[in-house]
Amino acid sequence: MIKNYPPISLGTAFFKELDYSLFISNALEAGYTHLDLAARYLNEKKIGKALKDNNVDRNSLIITEKIWPCDYKENRFFKAYDEMLNRVGLTYFDIVLLHKPVKDYLGAYQRLISLREKGLVKHIGVSNFSKKQIEEIYQKFNEYPEINQIETNIYYYDLETIEYCKEKGIVVEGYSPILNKKSREEKVILDLAKKYQKDATQIILRFIYQLGITPVVKSSSLKHLKSNNDIWNFIISEEDMNLIKGLRKKDFRPLKKLLDFFGDRMNFHPEKEKI
Ligand SMILES: NC(=O)c1ccc[n+]([C@@H]2O[C@H](COP(=O)([O-])OP(=O)(O)OC[C@H]3O[C@@H](n4cnc5c(N)ncnc54)[C@H](OP(=O)(O)O)[C@@H]3O)[C@@H](O)[C@H]2O)c1
Repeated sequence: MIKNYPPISLGTAFFKELDYSLFISNALEAGYTHLDLAARYLNEKKIGKALKDNNVDRNSLIITEKIWPCDYKENRFFKAYDEMLNRVGLTYFDIVLLHKPVKDYLGAYQRLISLREKGLVKHIGVSNFSKKQIEEIYQKFNEYPEINQIETNIYYYDLETIEYCKEKGIVVEGYSPILNKKSREEKVILDLAKKYQKDATQIILRFIYQLGITPVVKSSSLKHLKSNNDIWNFIISEEDMNLIKGLRKKDFRPLKKLLDFFGDRMNFHPEKEKI
């Protein structure tokens, strides 16, 4: 169990232009207590500086970090973890995830366990792992990851993996929940927004929350940060949940192109390369 684990997490990936100090101050004002970082996002130093600028009490935040596959090898892993801490300016991360199930992910998981045993991280988990890959972890280490962060939006979610994770007590975090303008303009979503007197994004985020998934959502605007974290005072009926479930597309994965692009770049090193 992760102490004080909040029902929503704040994404930090690939902002085009951003005043990071303002972003963190807005996020705190909007009540976010969980930040989702990754070496791959190439902005850890900026986030670290913004946390400092805002005099953030470290104990008031849960900070998740993700290790990119180029650092899975034994000769990189522990050094990479130190480098990530240095870039963000922290002495520990609350949660560390393996970003993708490629290369020697079982070896990397073993090293995550040893980080936890040394007290350098509190909780460990994975991202983009399927049921089969989590089973492999269980077979080898006799434990389940505490978290699996996977793509979740109205068009795509991996029900098999989600159900499996729930059954095993693994927290499912859903990334790219809003995805794009198109999802916010679906008629079903707009009709429900009207019915529940919420905006379209709130309907989508609440839907994901009611699937039992923690949305990991990003926004550069205070207005959106606030409304996205104001989805706790209404319940979408089962009938309406089913209407939204009807938007799920078979054999369509919106982020596939992006994932394929990154798939070709597993050897990129966060310290050296810019996207
Ligand atoms: N583990 C992985 O492999 C993985 C992969 C992808 C993402 N992630 C994580 O998940 C986070 C979220 O995913 P994402 O960044 O791809 O996309 P997202 O959170 O689904 O969508 C972000 C976009 O939605 C807009 N938005 C947010 N709230 C809005 C609102 N209330 N109304 C209208 N527009 C709104 C934002 O624009 P504004 O700035 O204008 O609000 C932004 O352009 C990432 O930042 C990252 O931390 C993880």
